[in-house]
Amino acid sequence: MNPQMNFNSAVEKHTYINQMFARIAPRYDIMNRLMSAGQDGRWRNLLVKQLQLPPHGTLLDIATGTGDIAFESIRQRPDLAQVVGADFTLPMMLVGKNRYPQLQNRQKLRWSGADTLHLPFHDDCFDGVVSGFLMRNVTDIDATLADQTRVCKPDGKVAILEIPRPAESLFGAMFRLYFHNVVPILGSFISGQADAYSYLPHSADAFLRPEELKQAMEKSGLKDVHYTMLMMGTIALHVGQK
Ligand SMILES: C[S@@+](CC[C@H](N)C(=O)[O-])C[C@H]1O[C@@H](n2cnc3c(N)ncnc32)[C@H](O)[C@@H]1O
Repeated sequence: MNPQMNFNSAVEKHTYINQMFARIAPRYDIMNRLMSAGQDGRWRNLLVKQLQLPPHGTLLDIATGTGDIAFESIRQRPDLAQVVGADFTLPMMLVGKNRYPQLQNRQKLRWSGADTLHLPFHDDCFDGVVSGFLMRNVTDIDATLADQTRVCKPDGKVAILEIPRPAESLFGAMFRLYFHNVVPILGSFISGQADAYSYLPHSADAFLRPEELKQAMEKSGLKDVHYTMLMMGTIALHVGQK
């Protein structure tokens, strides 16, 4: 597979994504801190805030990876009854399971192997369903949104943190330059996985614009969908209500 997104089939993409995250798992967190200049924690903090989960609520963090959003939610909302971090790449979750051993309320976080296209949860069971940096990687955005909406309770929230397709502007062009030229070199140096960090900017180029993702969320049955642009318009945080 080349990282230019020329997958021959959905199965090929699905397999590549799964194996690629298994390879970068040990260095995933450090690369995130470097690429975002240490800002990514703030985005996840805002994501949890915007969910406005009810007291003693429940949260699904699908594509939890090493658990950054899940950990942020139990830190920010110690009252939550349960947080489920789910992912289809077990090595990512294994890294996550060894993080923050002293964190209070850690027992409220459960880890689950799951594919976002076929979530192993009942209808209407979480007050919030979130994903961070998942949607570029899925083979069917509409089916993914439909299943996330299905497992969310009525009046619950679905939130998505993602890197949308860069804007056609001077800043968008500068961001593309950084993303396509600096990030793969950094990724190669830090994680030894240049192809994974070449795939990353190509996946953003091929992804939806913020307004298009909003429309897709509305199509899945979510209402009051709105989004906030972060990091000078390079990151989008979408929230909708079931
Ligand atoms: C860029 S990481 C994001 C991890 C974490 N959410 C964060 O904010 O750092 C993307 C994660 O999505 C997971 N993923 C991709 N496709 C998936 C799928 N179909 N089902 C479940 N997880 C998936 C990958 O295994 C990976 O852990």
